[in-house]
Amino acid sequence: MSATSRMQKAAPTTAKAARNTKAAARTVSTAAETVSAPRRDLDPAAMATTDALETAPPIQTKVLEVDPNWITFSAPSAVRNGAAQDPLAHLNAVPTITDPRGITALQEATRWLTVEQQVIGLPTETVYGLAGDARSSVAVSRIFAAKRRPSDNPLIVHVASLTMLEDLVGEAAITPVHRRVMAAYWPGPLTLLFPIRAGVLPPTVTAGQSTVAVRFPAHPVARALIAVSGCPLAAPSANASGRPSPTLASHVVRDLEGRIPLVLDAGQCACGLESTVLSVEDVARPVVLRPGGVTVEQLAVTLGVDVACHSGHVADAATPAAPGMKYRHYSPRARVIVVENSTPAAVKAVCGRYKRVGVLRTVSPVAVPGTVDFDARADPAQELFRALRWLDDQGVEAIVVEGMADAHVGRAFMNRVRKAASEIMDARAVTWAAVVSSTSSSTR
Ligand code: TXA
Ligand code: MG
Repeated sequence: MSATSRMQKAAPTTAKAARNTKAAARTVSTAAETVSAPRRDLDPAAMATTDALETAPPIQTKVLEVDPNWITFSAPSAVRNGAAQDPLAHLNAVPTITDPRGITALQEATRWLTVEQQVIGLPTETVYGLAGDARSSVAVSRIFAAKRRPSDNPLIVHVASLTMLEDLVGEAAITPVHRRVMAAYWPGPLTLLFPIRAGVLPPTVTAGQSTVAVRFPAHPVARALIAVSGCPLAAPSANASGRPSPTLASHVVRDLEGRIPLVLDAGQCACGLESTVLSVEDVARPVVLRPGGVTVEQLAVTLGVDVACHSGHVADAATPAAPGMKYRHYSPRARVIVVENSTPAAVKAVCGRYKRVGVLRTVSPVAVPGTVDFDARADPAQELFRALRWLDDQGVEAIVVEGMADAHVGRAFMNRVRKAASEIMDARAVTWAAVVSSTSSSTR
């Protein structure tokens, strides 16, 4: 990883950090940047829900830095002594915030969530979320409005203790299969579906589904805020609907400035892709509705059965298992071309079609000359959304993405890039030598 990449990983969105990164080739977006016009063309179904927000005056968006190292969790004493009977007892650990700046930030966030029923940008280990109290219909409608999300796309509810989960869905809804995967992957990037418990959440959270999606984030800031505020937090990814998910606080500011009062900034998200969404309704045939950081292969080992993975290709008219799958996703403004079974010759040939083109490299050791290069080989999953946004900001006409093997974490990567793509090509299906020679005289 280059020095620039390392600096950006840690870079918070403060004015000072922005000055420090000014000279960097991969500029970090800052709160001071102009907010780009939202892509209203992508989500016509969302328009009805956003009218009220359209007429509301913009609000000031504040960014507060919170270092995850300011927060520690102590497990219940029975876990510490090795006397705990319940393999899920560790989920009732409580946070200690050691730095006064962390206390102030979490208090301010709590006030927005509870007193004001507002929504805020929140770091998680997957992507930044747009979080509001899941029990408040006001907060939930603000989430849909702020990101212009279609109202038929349900939200994930984030919890930070076993007790909070039990309050939300009822003890009886937590089956032995749930418990097995929770013991293995919570806290972490795995979302589980549970049957709805009547009267706990506004129906808008679940958008008419009979289940509610619940996740227990591992990120210390998200986990501590849920614990401190006492709020289960409904939180979709904090991008404007249809845009790439945010993995830096600056991405959230770019998409939602003027629409939300606060973004907590903890630097770059570690996973970079959203959580795995798993349904264990049919215990003999668990289904991954959205691949993510916890892989299908890992889940099959944990559960000892085959685990299906939804393809994600769903007709717009259908009601898919995960409603979000039917919407256009993750799209930068530039055209995205995915080259599956990628070879350097194939990528070079596709680049030859464009005057100004970006390449998101996941495999090739060297850049294609004359292109805007983003080397994501160190961690393609973590870098994908940042790369799409950054290449877009360079004003390229097209972004050529080198595909990865469609297994393990590559499955989640390929799921996202296929959804972002205007065009998917298979390097094996074309005689690239011929294409290269026919385009080699083009100027780029
Ligand atoms: O990592 C993540 O999951 C991030 C962070 C912020 O936690 N959140 C996130 O939320 O990606 P969102 O709203 O962008 O994606 C949630 C996905 C959508 O595809 C939605 O349709 C699906 O989960 N989903 C939510 N509730 C569901 C339910 N009850 N049944 C099936 N799918 C559901
Ligand atoms: Mg999303």
